[in-house]
Amino acid sequence: MIDKNAVARCFGKAAASYDQHALLQRLSSDKLLQYLPTVPNMVNTYATTVDLGCGSGALLSTLAECSENLIAVDLSFGMLTHARGHHQLATPTYWLNGDAEALPLQSDSIDLCVSNLALQWCDDLAMPLIETSRCLKRGGLMLFSTLVSGSLDELTQSWAAVNKHRHVNRFLSEGEIKAALLKSGLSVESFQIEIQTMHYSSVKEVMLSLKGIGANHVHNKNVKPTTQGDLRAFKANYETLRDNQGLLPLSYKLAYCLLRKR
Ligand SMILES: C[S@@+](CC[C@H](N)C(=O)[O-])C[C@H]1O[C@@H](n2cnc3c(N)ncnc32)[C@H](O)[C@@H]1O
Repeated sequence: MIDKNAVARCFGKAAASYDQHALLQRLSSDKLLQYLPTVPNMVNTYATTVDLGCGSGALLSTLAECSENLIAVDLSFGMLTHARGHHQLATPTYWLNGDAEALPLQSDSIDLCVSNLALQWCDDLAMPLIETSRCLKRGGLMLFSTLVSGSLDELTQSWAAVNKHRHVNRFLSEGEIKAALLKSGLSVESFQIEIQTMHYSSVKEVMLSLKGIGANHVHNKNVKPTTQGDLRAFKANYETLRDNQGLLPLSYKLAYCLLRKR
């Protein structure tokens, strides 16, 4: 079971530094929005749009351009408060501190739900999809990106030779994601996988790329503390991964999905 209070706390703590570190998130959201079906005049195409796991609100101004109303939902009150304080939108926007797995929204009330790199923080991916399906009107769309197993493999590998404790969260396989899509009852219009490798000059920068956005909570982490020796061994292992540019890779495997309620 995911400790949602701990997840929310980590993201809340990182709210002020989030935008500065969210490079992968911006690459992912740019790509994700390309899957939104284009219509001649996007203005007010969707009566009500939800940004699920809105974080610092980076997608809100783009979503506002094609929506009559926006609902920004996030598990972290700190993140939501930060987003609210940093976005003045002409489109009426409602701010909801809530969980994607139990959406505080009425059934058949929304036209579009967009979620960028938030649903990998849920216990069971099928739940937010079933919840979104409940809240979508017929014909409504769900567009989301999430992480797939293979993400952060350099971290997993570098720790594996040090000890058997859990240092990195587990991500769903492509097959497990497809099973969750099936459970949702939504029809799949598009499903794409992409690998994105980020590069850093030090192990410290790699770790900061996760901590800076608040993505450093490890579920069910072994309570045994990490020793200085373990940390040194982990860093030495990671150092062996330097590429010919002298940089350290950190890989992400992303799934982009467009679903429709029939
Ligand atoms: C990596 S950030 C992505 C934020 C934003 N979508 C973006 O593209 O920058 C993940 C966000 O999902 C939120 N989150 C995590 N679990 C959630 C849940 N169960 N329900 C709603 N939001 C959640 C976190 O609080 C965090 O703000």
